[in-house]
Amino acid sequence: MLEQFGAPLEVQEVDLAEPCAGEVLVRLVACGVCHTDLYTASGADPSGYAPAVLGHEGAGVVERVAEGVASLAPGDHVVTLFSPQCRACVHCLDPRTNLCLAIREQQNKGYLPDGTTRLSRGGEPIRHFMGTSTFAEYTVMPEIALAKIDREAPLDRACLFACGLSTGLGAAIKTAKVTPGSTCVVFGAGMVGLGAVAGCRLQGAERIVCVDLSRDRLELARGQGATDLLVGGPDAVEHVVELTGGFGADYTFEATGSVAVMRQALEAARMGWGLATMCGVAGKGETLDIVPRFLIQGRRVAGSSFGGIKGRDEVPELVTRYLRGEIDVDPFISHTISLDDVNRGFELMEAQDGIRSVIAFD
Ligand SMILES: NC(=O)c1ccc[n+]([C@@H]2O[C@H](COP(=O)([O-])OP(=O)(O)OC[C@H]3O[C@@H](n4cnc5c(N)ncnc54)[C@H](O)[C@@H]3O)[C@@H](O)[C@H]2O)c1
Ligand SMILES: [Zn+2]
Ligand SMILES: [Zn+2]
Repeated sequence: MLEQFGAPLEVQEVDLAEPCAGEVLVRLVACGVCHTDLYTASGADPSGYAPAVLGHEGAGVVERVAEGVASLAPGDHVVTLFSPQCRACVHCLDPRTNLCLAIREQQNKGYLPDGTTRLSRGGEPIRHFMGTSTFAEYTVMPEIALAKIDREAPLDRACLFACGLSTGLGAAIKTAKVTPGSTCVVFGAGMVGLGAVAGCRLQGAERIVCVDLSRDRLELARGQGATDLLVGGPDAVEHVVELTGGFGADYTFEATGSVAVMRQALEAARMGWGLATMCGVAGKGETLDIVPRFLIQGRRVAGSSFGGIKGRDEVPELVTRYLRGEIDVDPFISHTISLDDVNRGFELMEAQDGIRSVIAFD
């Protein structure tokens, strides 16, 4: 429970009402600890609210479904989706975007689609976070925000597909649609960047340069398929251009959240057709500087939210690819912690100790 911005999370008993029409009660089995949770907990996110139950990288088992729920049944294994898929809105029906419009407004305010909460304490409503609130043993979520996955998939691995891993994989596979034989550069080797490296590999990229400030993280990138490793900094663009015969890369990806690196990603893309895909979330009020000449010369910029992945259709497909051995998830999980240790998960993240801490519920 986030009681107060800037203060540690508190583990408390709260009330969770039964799911209403179209909603599902999920028992969480595992949940990753992500920067977005910390961003909100710290108070840095201007749209944050408290009190709220944080957490958005959940995986679990369906306990109960309310009326009107057709696609899920008790016992199903699910990954939670902060980016839902209603399959009916104008965006869901269009292959060009994954930004479902069905419940955005209420979700951003911390409510379930009907404008109320299922969480409360002493009769006072408590808001849901990102429509998920998965730092908890149970959560109630709309059916359209749950991806049903293969029961064979271990849930303490599958939870990573709820956010960062799918974001990176999708940026390469869905947003950029990397073509076989191409040259790619990924800036950032956190969860998102490493996912993008893996996505480029799955798309058949011939060369994948990964750029990060941390040598340890670059080594992890090699394990995901990076062919060249580069320590980042002000000269990164120059180095990339050198490595790519003077032209730059066919596809570049930014996964740092730094607007300076976003600019580098654009400038490291090849003239003629280079595509720079931005995944990072910049700080409040920051803007991206682009010299227009880079665009006139044929470079393009794209942004990617949740990797352009339509969650209910495509998260299960990614999990299946993981089960087939195409995606190596284990190296991303550095610490397994209990819910009581959630603040330690934040500390590990701030210290860049490993890629992901995963909360295991028993
Ligand atoms: N678009 C989305 O839907 C979405 C989803 C999840 C996360 N994100 C965002 O993606 C970004 C990355 O997330 P993450 O979990 O991988 O974060 P992370 O902090 O684990 O990784 C970021 C990496 O960038 C590296 N880095 C920092 N400065 C650099 C520089 N100058 N050159 C090269 N590398 C540099 C860091 O060393 C670090 O390894 C964040 O901004 C996050 O908010 C976006
Ligand atoms: Zn996340
Ligand atoms: Zn929709």
